[in-house]
Amino acid sequence: MQDKTSIHGAWTSRWIFILAATGSAVGLGNIWKFPYITGENGGGAFVLVYLCCILLVGVPIMMAEVLIGRRGRQSPINAMKSVALEAGRPQYWSLVGWTGVLAGFMIFSFYSVVAGWVLFYIAGMGVGDFIAIGSADAGSVFNDLLGDPQTLIIWHSIFVMMVMLVIVGGVKKGLENAVKFLMPALFFLLLVMLGYSSQTEGFAAGWDFLFHYDPSELSWDSVLVALGHSFFTLSLGMGAIMAYGSYMPKKTSIGGAVIWIAIMDTLVALIAGLVIFPIVFSNGMDPGAGPGLMFVTLPVAFGQMPGGQIFGFVFFLLVGIAAWTSAISLMEPAAAWLVEKFNWHRIPACIVLGLIVWGMGIAALGSFNFISDVKLLGFNVFDFLDFMTANIMLPLGGLFIAIFAGWIITRNIVANELAISSPLLFNAWYIALRFIAPIGVSVIFVLNLIEKLK
Ligand code: PHE
Repeated sequence: MQDKTSIHGAWTSRWIFILAATGSAVGLGNIWKFPYITGENGGGAFVLVYLCCILLVGVPIMMAEVLIGRRGRQSPINAMKSVALEAGRPQYWSLVGWTGVLAGFMIFSFYSVVAGWVLFYIAGMGVGDFIAIGSADAGSVFNDLLGDPQTLIIWHSIFVMMVMLVIVGGVKKGLENAVKFLMPALFFLLLVMLGYSSQTEGFAAGWDFLFHYDPSELSWDSVLVALGHSFFTLSLGMGAIMAYGSYMPKKTSIGGAVIWIAIMDTLVALIAGLVIFPIVFSNGMDPGAGPGLMFVTLPVAFGQMPGGQIFGFVFFLLVGIAAWTSAISLMEPAAAWLVEKFNWHRIPACIVLGLIVWGMGIAALGSFNFISDVKLLGFNVFDFLDFMTANIMLPLGGLFIAIFAGWIITRNIVANELAISSPLLFNAWYIALRFIAPIGVSVIFVLNLIEKLK
């Protein structure tokens, strides 16, 4: 097999790939979404199901995505096609890449709204708006923001521009330099926050909430949310990791890299939970408060702690950066495809993509104000985009990727690309990919459907 490279460039080293993919994985999903869905789904039992999904479904599928990307060396749409053709299979497998691009647009449009909230909080913290704020006031700041479309549009627009500016330059240079420094910094700040929350009186209650196992809290609905979130948090099922895999050096071990990414992603989520819940319980707030959880709880903590203005500023800055490095990977597959397909420069590609997601984002942020009465399947636009992507499109995308890598292309291709020297480990992965992941995803889907129809 000839050693192809991507026309878009390649990561300088194995660690850069790991950091870039971790930058994609670690984002709002970990710091904003994981704590609030854990709160809504009762805590410990949900966390346990989520961890199982990461290990048994997420990790095997992530390895499949990376190997397809690296084998195909193109955007997910074309990589799926070229690997399918290499294996003598029909090229319509590229459809999986297409639905991934669509999911990327849909995720981006609500992601950018939340990232806009984060930018608003960075600015607010910076000018000292939250000094000594109580929980009631923190709640009303957030609600006022949601009710103000103009402010939301400004911050959403800034975020779209930030993302497109990086993609224009090609992810390689901007991203490589950013992630090397930003990811360790994010980790460090989370640990500082953990130090703070461990001193609060609610720490034991927060710990208990996250790790206390009570199966009666669990419904099939929660299991679907846990499954969907394991895809969302690892950036799986839509091609982001496949695109990053296509820039990966040939000699790097895929399995080893993926384990690192999954561990770092999971640690960040758990630490974020251990930061947020103790603060929630110390201040008598509601762990099931939904999407506003982080935006209402953390300002209260920052408002009270010494140096809180600076910590708060830096913390939201890092959440913003985490969101940024993730959002780049949401658009990279589409940008790479436009460049490959039409031979475009990245500038027109980014203008087109930016305009589309900007418009979609305005519909999403309108859910909280000017189109709050518009309902799709009973959800407002924002919740619809979140539900459809995380709970339906990403798991389905992952299912098809597992089937493709496990059943459609040959064992030779996957074994050659993965190059796992231990037959035991290879077989464990192959069984997880061919059986556990597809059956697990299908069973959770069907049982959920049955419960909904009851
Ligand atoms: N993994 C990102 C997060 O947790 C979100 C994401 C999903 C990014 C899918 C890219 C692709 O915030």
